[in-house]
Amino acid sequence: MPRDSSRRLLGGATPAQFLARHWQKRPLLVRGAVPGFAGAIDAHELMRLACDEHVESRIVVRGRRRNWQVLHGPFRPSAFRSLGERGWTLLVQDLNHHVQAAHDLLRAFRFLPNARLDDVMASYAAPGGGVGPHVDSYDVFLLQGPGIRRWRIGRQRDLGLVQGAPLKLLRRFAPTQEWRLGPGDMLYLPPSYAHDGTAMTACMTYSIGFRAPAWQELTSQFLAWLQDRVKREGLYTDPDLTPTHTPGRLGAGLIDRAAEQLARIRWSRADVSRFLGCYLTEPKPSVFFTPPAQALGRSVFERLAWRHGVALDRKSRMLYNGREIFLNGELEPLDGTAAKHLRALADAGSLRPGPDLRVSLSEPLYAWYRAGFIHLVTGVP
Ligand code: SIN
Ligand code: CO
Repeated sequence: MPRDSSRRLLGGATPAQFLARHWQKRPLLVRGAVPGFAGAIDAHELMRLACDEHVESRIVVRGRRRNWQVLHGPFRPSAFRSLGERGWTLLVQDLNHHVQAAHDLLRAFRFLPNARLDDVMASYAAPGGGVGPHVDSYDVFLLQGPGIRRWRIGRQRDLGLVQGAPLKLLRRFAPTQEWRLGPGDMLYLPPSYAHDGTAMTACMTYSIGFRAPAWQELTSQFLAWLQDRVKREGLYTDPDLTPTHTPGRLGAGLIDRAAEQLARIRWSRADVSRFLGCYLTEPKPSVFFTPPAQALGRSVFERLAWRHGVALDRKSRMLYNGREIFLNGELEPLDGTAAKHLRALADAGSLRPGPDLRVSLSEPLYAWYRAGFIHLVTGVP
């Protein structure tokens, strides 16, 4: 993104200034962050997407206190006809997987690490619609598409929830700031900042969300990962056993030796890096890749990749650390030259045409092409 549009996106701040002043610290309202922004999808297309079984979607209907309603997709087209004129919203996750224009929106946020990216969510709301006052555990950029949404926000200690409601609604919401956002305006919110967005007119909002792993989840996933990698030979022995009068007792000797064995479990920083690479690139359970209907033979693929370049599928997640390349939950062991090019693929999302694609990379690239993780850049299948 050219420097002045990246500055405009952040209200005149450079990415470094934005990170130092606002990221994880305080909100930022930017008027005209994306001038002339017309959105990535219209309401009818969003409704059509919400009828697809591979798309994660929800409808939230506003109610009093706990009488809100949450419906989960996929929906029938008729579901939208019965919603009425006011007070409902449709939310679609992972729009960047399904719509190229939403995927392209992420380019503007390339100053943030891919490891932190979650997704682009779109919400269409009828007048009065919204998901109510809540906090998120994510950093989020709320980019306004067509229509007007009023945001009320506040930093509050009391995060108690309305009991019995079908979604997380703050019991007491005490907003301290309020703005109306129109097309192209954007509001950045750090995690745990209370907020409530209500549609003033029918409107579309894009939430560009950045996840942060929760330590509890990360720890249990790491232990599961480690489980497949820890090898222990042998079994407990007790040739020194003496007669007992309390056969029900769990013996101290058994506990001590088991504790000693378990205390020998070790892992290195390299293990942590490998785990993180796999864990953070693991596709969500709802994600499916579509392999090419009629895969090209390897040599034709190589020739076309060389001539046109390749690009990651919109759903692919790719990270690297040195020579270790992670794609969609798998670690790919590679030699140095191949790793250099694949780091460029992870950073840029595509690889330029050229002989390198043929010489050093054809093996992993061809396997990824057949799995639907990457595509040839042209309209070739
Ligand atoms: C919405 O778009 O209605 C909700 C987005 C959010 O509050 O995070
Ligand atoms: Co929110």
